[in-house]
Amino acid sequence: MDSTGRLRCCSMAGTRRLDGKVVLVTGSSSGIGEACVERFAREGAIVAGADLNPPARGLDVPDDVPAVSFSLLDVRDEGATEQLVADILGEHGRIDGVVTAAGVAGGGPAHMVDEQQWDLVLDINLKGTFLTAKHVVTAMLRQAPDGDGQRGSIVTIASVEGLEGTAGGSSYNASKGGVVLLTKNLAIDYGRQGVRANCICPGFIDTPMLRGVFGPGMEETRADIVHEHKLRRLGRPSEIASAALFLLSNDASFVSGAALPVDGGYTAGRDHGVTEMLGL
Ligand SMILES: NC(=O)c1ccc[n+]([C@@H]2O[C@H](COP(=O)([O-])OP(=O)(O)OC[C@H]3O[C@@H](n4cnc5c(N)ncnc54)[C@H](O)[C@@H]3O)[C@@H](O)[C@H]2O)c1
Repeated sequence: MDSTGRLRCCSMAGTRRLDGKVVLVTGSSSGIGEACVERFAREGAIVAGADLNPPARGLDVPDDVPAVSFSLLDVRDEGATEQLVADILGEHGRIDGVVTAAGVAGGGPAHMVDEQQWDLVLDINLKGTFLTAKHVVTAMLRQAPDGDGQRGSIVTIASVEGLEGTAGGSSYNASKGGVVLLTKNLAIDYGRQGVRANCICPGFIDTPMLRGVFGPGMEETRADIVHEHKLRRLGRPSEIASAALFLLSNDASFVSGAALPVDGGYTAGRDHGVTEMLGL
């Protein structure tokens, strides 16, 4: 990080899948967002990271990739979000993609959730995604399309908990279900103008958020959850970054409106142990 708070990093020349693209990542200081910043920078993107908290560490990237900038941002703050997008446009002239990874855990059975807790989760996870998408898409609509008619790609991060219920999920599941449908609507509303919108629905990913949820005393629940993933492990942040990379890249030029589970088979269906019983 240099004296202006900017992180500097780099990557190998050759075929990089986001060469020259300008990409905003919210929630960039930890977990999935941080992995996205690192992967996109390696793939040649100019990355603008934004988070409520500064990055805890330098990025794990070679020294020859484009600059990565960082801004403090509360995704609930519309004025600050609008200003950040304006700053990106001022510096780079366009914005080709966004990944909305800022989010918080939360929830509980409804009768145990107080209004403030509900509002916090919905405000950050759902309204924050809306505000980021709103100002990014506004900028995308003003920029010229590429040769393929594309103006930009929006990637939101929901969850498997936005596709199905989870015990005690309440506000978290409601927020993530909202992100799934918001994203589909973005795909419908802006497809004609060349903006694609897709949602990634991660399974349980080994990040600081998850480690915070499954503290001491939660070992059995954690093991049950690992078992629900048919690959019998938690996901890695880099595996979500790989999916986001695909959705931002031209390889996904005909993909829009998808809610893509990246979940090790978590949502594939129930596993009642029959195949194990049969010796598989
Ligand atoms: N880890 C999982 O198992 C998992 C599974 C499915 C979905 N998700 C989602 O993926 C996203 C990233 O989660 P993660 O596991 O990397 O969590 P994380 O806690 O490691 O990272 C989340 C980041 O969001 C930032 N953030 C929180 N509130 C913010 C705000 N108001 N404004 C700006 N930034 C804010 C935090 O400072 C943090 O850096 C979240 O939306 C989360 O709900 C995570």
